[in-house]
Amino acid sequence: MKQIVIEGENELKGTIKIGGAKNSAVALIPAAIMAQDTSTITNVPCISDCDDLLEILTLLNVKATLTDGKMVIDASNLENKVIPEDLSTRLRASYYFMGALLARFKYVEMYFPGGCNIGARPIDLHLKGFEAMGATINKENSKYIIKADELKGADIILDFASVGATINIMLAATLAKGTTVIHNAAREVEISNIAEFLNAMGASITGAGTSEIIIKGVKALHGAKTKVIPDRIEAGTYIIMGALLGNELKVEGIIPDHLAILFSKFSEMDINYELGKDYVIISKAKNIKPTNIRTVVYPGFPTDLGQPMSVLLTQCQGISLFDETIFENRMGHVKYLNNMGAHIEVSGQHAVINGPTPLHGEEIVATDLRSGAALVTAGLIATGTTIINDVEHILRGYERIITKLSDVGAKIKIIEI
Ligand code: EPZ
Repeated sequence: MKQIVIEGENELKGTIKIGGAKNSAVALIPAAIMAQDTSTITNVPCISDCDDLLEILTLLNVKATLTDGKMVIDASNLENKVIPEDLSTRLRASYYFMGALLARFKYVEMYFPGGCNIGARPIDLHLKGFEAMGATINKENSKYIIKADELKGADIILDFASVGATINIMLAATLAKGTTVIHNAAREVEISNIAEFLNAMGASITGAGTSEIIIKGVKALHGAKTKVIPDRIEAGTYIIMGALLGNELKVEGIIPDHLAILFSKFSEMDINYELGKDYVIISKAKNIKPTNIRTVVYPGFPTDLGQPMSVLLTQCQGISLFDETIFENRMGHVKYLNNMGAHIEVSGQHAVINGPTPLHGEEIVATDLRSGAALVTAGLIATGTTIINDVEHILRGYERIITKLSDVGAKIKIIEI
């Protein structure tokens, strides 16, 4: 088991380079198997989710290599196999193989996916989309058997603007007969990254990034090249750390528009920053004004940044509110922050955060990826030593986090126990 050990209160000075977006990469990689030849994906982040996807590709007889962030995927000999449950439950994004394999073979057997323990995370909207296109779905314990004589274009209205369901339905619709329209589609920027890749492969998709996506089915897809967009959540996490401990910390390789809501919140909180074309420079903020954070779908405040942001709220001069509205269980980090000296009262997914409170080091536990990122953020500002357990969660989504933080002055290391 691995632990992260942090000696707090060290300023962060220098440059952090942002990697490719986890939530794009984990959809682009399954999408690539829909082509009948070779695709190349660059700027793939060095995270364990991508390693797990590589293992799944190999199992499906797909030739795939990953070198320095460049993944080459040859799906010409793709085989439709059942992905073992222990593999498909390692990450949420295994469910994208449902849409991809259903599109290519009109038949797929998949187990219920894994992913962070932040709620029930059903996949009913994905399945409803596949059924609307003519698929039948049978369930054997936690395994789904999805088949269709043929997939037909359909008019689909999502009950919720689900990122995963939007992408999975888009994958299946790409090779369906006729046109599919997804209404109330998710507008997260990662969806446009996937749609652009599919179009480069020969698909016909318009409206990605809006709440209405139109997919005109095509007969087949060919290989293409694409690049993973920068990870706005990784960037936002380091920018929040910069507001707490930065000394002209530069976070570069970002798309500022993708973080507009964070910068708007910083302006509300009197946190100064210098914004460039693809970077931001930020230093430790003084007299931070309290604010209210309510996580919602894009372009609102992202649910994945709520937990790291709640650490910044513990240092505001007054009372802030933090409401998580997307998942049922994203407050796992609060009890550990309170052990470290924070004053946060939680009821359900509503938190009242009294600041400013000095934090002190403790031994704590990461309950999921983004609560882990929040605990690292807390450890960086706490006095003394913080030890974080179950850090495998963090390594799923933050590439080279120890190196990136050490290179700008943090006293942080990972140890095997
Ligand atoms: C994606 O999860 C991301 N994961 C999540 O990031 C992110 O928090 C989330 O989108 C929202 O932006 C990946 O892309 C791999 P949803 P996903 O479908 O697709 C409910 C991280 O930390 N829902 O938009 O699972 C669901 O339970 C991770 O990087 C249904 O009810 O999110 C949740 O309450 C965490 N039925 C809400 O919708 C469904 O069929 C949002 O889910 C699907 C979803």
